[in-house]
Amino acid sequence: MEQHKIAVVVGSLRAGSLNRKLAKAFCGLASGELDCKIAEIGDLPLYNEDIDKQPPQSWTRFREEIKAADGVLFVTPEYNRSMPGGLKNAIDVGSRPYGGSAFAKKPAGVVTASPGGIGGFGCNHALRQCCVFLDMPVMQQPEAYFGGVTDAKFGPDGAIVDDGLRKIATGFAHAFADWVRTIKLARAALAPDPTGAGA
Ligand SMILES: Cc1cc2nc3c(=O)[nH]c(=O)nc-3n(C[C@H](O)[C@H](O)[C@H](O)COP(=O)(O)O)c2cc1C
Repeated sequence: MEQHKIAVVVGSLRAGSLNRKLAKAFCGLASGELDCKIAEIGDLPLYNEDIDKQPPQSWTRFREEIKAADGVLFVTPEYNRSMPGGLKNAIDVGSRPYGGSAFAKKPAGVVTASPGGIGGFGCNHALRQCCVFLDMPVMQQPEAYFGGVTDAKFGPDGAIVDDGLRKIATGFAHAFADWVRTIKLARAALAPDPTGAGA
């Protein structure tokens, strides 16, 4: 089975992040199809176009990690009914310089998780709004708003021990792998024939 390289962007910076736990567990649920690597965002200075004339090493590293991936998976908490500032900053960094966005045309998935009841719905859709301008084809269904997520959902090895959460997360992981494959195939079919045949 083909494995897709996925850059995972986790929206929380805290060490004990539930979303980071979920991201790690999630990638293990479809490891035959998804080769996940977290693209870290905690060391990215705030985006400033002046600095971009000589970009910091961390910006270049982040942009290259996104560019090298077949798809991008966002796993994030909601802050104040929108996305955390650190995640928005990472999106701004990856989207520039103008015309050279690392995110353009990458298939994306959006997962939000919260101890609260509505599972980061506001953030999920704020992120989807950004993806429109980023020109990222985002998987529409299934959606993933995981509410009531606490440390108790994970075992000591990080695996999801809650059957309901594991089942939904597994379904999402396989659907996301299908989505990335679909977009890759479509892009390959539309790419110009390098031999020039049919021109
Ligand atoms: C600044 C801030 C704003 C928050 N706003 C929301 C919110 O709008 N909705 C929500 O469900 N939880 C909110 N929370 C609670 C987070 O969902 C909770 O802290 C969660 O554990 C953060 O994700 P993490 O465990 O991955 O760090 C907020 C937390 C912080 C620190």
